[in-house]
Amino acid sequence: MNPVGIDAVEIWTGKLELDLPGTLAPAKDEDPDKYRKGIGIERSSFPDLYEDIVTMGANAAKRLMDRKDLTPEDIGRIDVATESAFDNSKPVSTYVAGCLEQYFDGEFRHANKGERKFACVAGTQSIDDAYNWIRAGRNRGRAALVIATDTALYARGDPGESTQGAGAVAMLIDEDPDLVAISNEQGYGSMDETDFLKPNQQFPSVDGQRSMQVYLSRMREAVEDFESVAWDMHPDDLAYVPFHTPFPGMVRKAALLGYRHMSRDTEIEDALADEIGRQPREDAFDAREDYEDAIRDYMDDLKQTDQYRAWYDDAIEPTLGISRHVGNWYTGSVHIARIAALQSAAEAGRDLAGEKLLVGSYGSGAQAEIHAETVQPNWDHEIDQLNIDAQIDGRYDLSHDEYELVHDSHNYEKGSVDIDPFTEPSDEFVFTGWGRMNERQYEYIE
Ligand code: CAA
Repeated sequence: MNPVGIDAVEIWTGKLELDLPGTLAPAKDEDPDKYRKGIGIERSSFPDLYEDIVTMGANAAKRLMDRKDLTPEDIGRIDVATESAFDNSKPVSTYVAGCLEQYFDGEFRHANKGERKFACVAGTQSIDDAYNWIRAGRNRGRAALVIATDTALYARGDPGESTQGAGAVAMLIDEDPDLVAISNEQGYGSMDETDFLKPNQQFPSVDGQRSMQVYLSRMREAVEDFESVAWDMHPDDLAYVPFHTPFPGMVRKAALLGYRHMSRDTEIEDALADEIGRQPREDAFDAREDYEDAIRDYMDDLKQTDQYRAWYDDAIEPTLGISRHVGNWYTGSVHIARIAALQSAAEAGRDLAGEKLLVGSYGSGAQAEIHAETVQPNWDHEIDQLNIDAQIDGRYDLSHDEYELVHDSHNYEKGSVDIDPFTEPSDEFVFTGWGRMNERQYEYIE
């Protein structure tokens, strides 16, 4: 069986940025270190006035199709994963296809188009759908285009304002992929939860502290489920572990739990025993509370050990390199974590072909998914062609007053806000206004 996986990726960041420690923190009378050291986001991306989930998704897809020399007929399905849709009937993928057809010769007339929703895990679910479609032999030799695109805005004053972001990731899913092959094995942790939701409202209702607990619980269950069908994981078997990254501080918590789990009953636990003791086992405690206290103490000690710090620096920190500069992209976040890791390996000249990634996706509401990926021989050529650093460096740096106007201009309830764009579009799709049926309209600007 030929491997199926991600053949190519492209990223599009919103063209504006907000400096969190430098601009947001003073405006909110907060310590900048909350952002630098706690949350872990330095800058968040925001869409300019002419940008939205369609333009960002279509612009990432256009770069990808141009680079891979694809025509619309090479694509058999387009799935858009988003939590920021503006239409309950017409999927975002139709708008994106309409944009791409303005630019490329040919049509996506025989491509299956859809929109996936399960909070941030929907991007990974769309990859899963594409994988299954190819494995079932229904693709007629064509590839799938998966686009994860979001404007992750929170109501102003909500604690979530610290973790906003906007951007899109386009991924080509195909047989014999150039970037990573996806494992057939996968694990799930899924429960009906009320931690983060948008019941027909633009900005989310969030129970922030609970959302973090739910993330960790579902992720643990997904790891256990994965191991039940795949293999027991060991930290040294994994080159990188890209997690869904609402903010790097969240990944710090997930990584520590993951390391404790993977190192249990291994030579790592043995080697650490003299320094911090062995991991507490539940059957050694009469009360659950005592066991939980013992686990917390063990984890506090574990995170100070040289072994854990070295693993974190190697396998986790490189996955956070883009997130720190763009914030949360919801459906795209785990996919920029993968790209950040591969980019860091390429910059270090590391030979990664054949090595494994463990990918931890998560969506509120809530579901975690775990699968493994094997890096393919041509991965570095693909990664070398990304221009994400230039995109990040080229953003317009907003003042706090400008940020408030941009936030209002993307707030559907505020109507139109009379300000000019901050940047000049060129060679890209832009939003131009509404049509007679209240549809959003787009144009390609040379
Ligand atoms: N120096 C160093 N660290 C500091 C600090 C300082 N001066 N001030 C605060 N910190 C640390 C805090 O100790 C805390 O770290 P720990 O959790 O490790 O202790 C961190 O910075 C954040 O501080 P607060 O908890 O005080 O921040 P907050 O009240 O603004 O809330 C939040 C943080 C709950 C994450 C909030 O931003 C939020 O609601 N975000 C949206 C929800 C979210 O992202 N949840 C994540 C899981 S759900 C998910 O993953 C889906 C998704 O994408 C939304």
